[in-house]
Amino acid sequence: MFTSKITKIAVNILIILIAQNIFADDVFDGVSPQLGVVISDDYIEQIDFVVMPSGDGLPGGSGNAVTGKVLYSIHCMACHGPDAKGGINGDLAGGHGTISGPIPKKTVGSYWPYATIIFDYIRRAMPYQLPGTLSNNEVYALTAYILNLNGVIGEDELMNAQTLPKAKMPNSEGFIWAYSPSE
Ligand code: HEC
Repeated sequence: MFTSKITKIAVNILIILIAQNIFADDVFDGVSPQLGVVISDDYIEQIDFVVMPSGDGLPGGSGNAVTGKVLYSIHCMACHGPDAKGGINGDLAGGHGTISGPIPKKTVGSYWPYATIIFDYIRRAMPYQLPGTLSNNEVYALTAYILNLNGVIGEDELMNAQTLPKAKMPNSEGFIWAYSPSE
């Protein structure tokens, strides 16, 4: 019993000494722990692409829903279902008018406030198993197809950096600012 108390005290003293030594030496001395590597400008360019709700950041290229439908059946239908409904993963169309009701059905069409962020999302994250493999033209066409399925645009309307920000989403007025942006 007595021995074990002494052992505990000794261990505690040792821990304090080690800790003091570590803190005294490096951590608070402004010395970097030398972890990681500096990332290159090329790599930053590859991952630093954001499309803002306003359409800022949209790249060149274009596509319509007719082309988008073909691409959708190849790259997306397996998970999101025919006509973007009833697949094993989320519906991208339908649910319109349900958001303020008792059973809201959130889809890209019923919920998302900006058409531009559909482009951003697909380019960044889809197809789920192979993100980053679609060209900008393909992403524009797929975005156009999803918009068309949701009744936002006609099937031959061309989506590009100028037209996509003008596509008005059904729920674009359904959001309120939690705080005033000017404050
Ligand atoms: C292997 C299955 C798979 C494939 C193929 C796939 N997706 Fe998805 N998709 C998902 C999953 C899973 C999510 C949900 C991801 C999450 O919430 O993190 C998702 C989410 C999305 C969303 C956001 C839905 C929402 O309401 O938040 C969009 C838009 C979308 N996918 C579009 C596409 C398009 C376009 C393609 C074809 C280019 C595609 N997906 C192919 C699995 C898939």
